Amino acid sequence: MRVDDFRLMFGKREFVPIMIGGMGVDISTAGLALEAARLGGIGHISDAMVNTITDRRFNTKFVKEKLKQFKFNVANLDKSLVKFDLGQLAEATRLHIGKTMEAKRGAGLIFVNIMEKLTMNAPKETLKVRMSAALDAGIDGITLAAGLHLGSFGLIEDHPRFRDVKLGIIVSSVRALQLFLKKSARTKRMPDYVVVEGPLAGGHLGFGMDWAQYDLATIVAEVIQYLKDEQLDIPVIPAGGIFTGTDAVQFLEGGAAGVQVATRFTVAEECGLPAAAKQEYFKASEEDIEVNQISPTGYPMRMIKSSPGIGDGIRPNCEAYGYLLDANGKCAYVASYNREVAAHPGARKVKVFDKTCLCTHMRNFEIWTCGQLTWRLKDTTRRNEDGSYQVLSAEHIFKDYQFSTDQQIALPD
Ligand SMILES: Cc1cc2nc3c(=O)[nH]c(=O)nc-3n(C[C@H](O)[C@H](O)[C@H](O)COP(=O)(O)O)c2cc1C
Repeated sequence: MRVDDFRLMFGKREFVPIMIGGMGVDISTAGLALEAARLGGIGHISDAMVNTITDRRFNTKFVKEKLKQFKFNVANLDKSLVKFDLGQLAEATRLHIGKTMEAKRGAGLIFVNIMEKLTMNAPKETLKVRMSAALDAGIDGITLAAGLHLGSFGLIEDHPRFRDVKLGIIVSSVRALQLFLKKSARTKRMPDYVVVEGPLAGGHLGFGMDWAQYDLATIVAEVIQYLKDEQLDIPVIPAGGIFTGTDAVQFLEGGAAGVQVATRFTVAEECGLPAAAKQEYFKASEEDIEVNQISPTGYPMRMIKSSPGIGDGIRPNCEAYGYLLDANGKCAYVASYNREVAAHPGARKVKVFDKTCLCTHMRNFEIWTCGQLTWRLKDTTRRNEDGSYQVLSAEHIFKDYQFSTDQQIALPD
């Protein structure tokens, strides 16, 4: 059996059951998502730091304008005054998503990954704007991730597209799913799909530092059983460590509706990582990959140990960014930075090891978050004469998942 023997069904529409997961900040680019859709699967863009992405894609000046407005606060240790302009946030979101949807070709779909942990110093208001603007811009679906807020469906229930757009959630346990379904029952709107993300995924993990004790297949089986017991017909999409077409087939045969994959695509031409960073992903050995607690979100995060952002003590850039400021205008990195500055009076630059300025470093591709199986990427390509690894096309990787058998991985020509 191969992945192409299966189809992911949304109502009566069928798709190749391969979903490329959202990778912020603009690692899963519009170009990558468009390829997935063209090939009949499902691609994701991410709205993480959308003002920055839109500036980069369309030459807008959202970041500059925010910094100008709050410049007076740069030296202030208290960031609670730094708020997003909701009108600009909506405009940036509509541009990023609208232009992507305009370019869509083929039979597949494009979804947006929305991480709720980007609390943006006004969690509810900003989340409502992000979701509503995505719907305005014609997105096919929204995948709610990292920090799942139980009332999120309610924030857009008055939107005219609330019942036609695909809405999905990412969970890492049957318990999280139960809670979400209970809480959103009031909107009489079930999720259209559930991504079950296991402990080997990239980005933030929905587990503690004991992540290694969990196993994706077990959690997926529990979720499928639970939905069956409740007589709920919701597609289940496992994610995390599904590295080959054969790995995917095993889940599809076990009752999964599709799979979500990401790490294999970090070395695609269309992926947003800079070329040099892609080579670091190829080169990484198993020992080079760690799960640590430096993300200010409070979730463990997996990354390559040599990420330049680890241990860097840069001054927080909340006046320009500020995506992780919580409902009280606080961020764990700002607290750590302020502590180090107080402990080293007069120092020109401090080192901060316990947390990182995730906004700045993700924006600059200096935190190399990755899946656990990144060390296997070198086996998916050939080496160039100069010793570097050959970057792959998204189409090559997608089709390898779709058509390969017997744990084989097709090398590029
Ligand atoms: C570089 C990278 C960045 C990621 N960023 C996000 C993100 O912003 N939001 C999210 O929900 N998941 C994120 N993920 C998780 C993926 O969407 C996906 O669920 C998971 O990595 C799949 O496992 P795999 O990488 O082993 O294929 C990221 C993964 C990677 C590799």
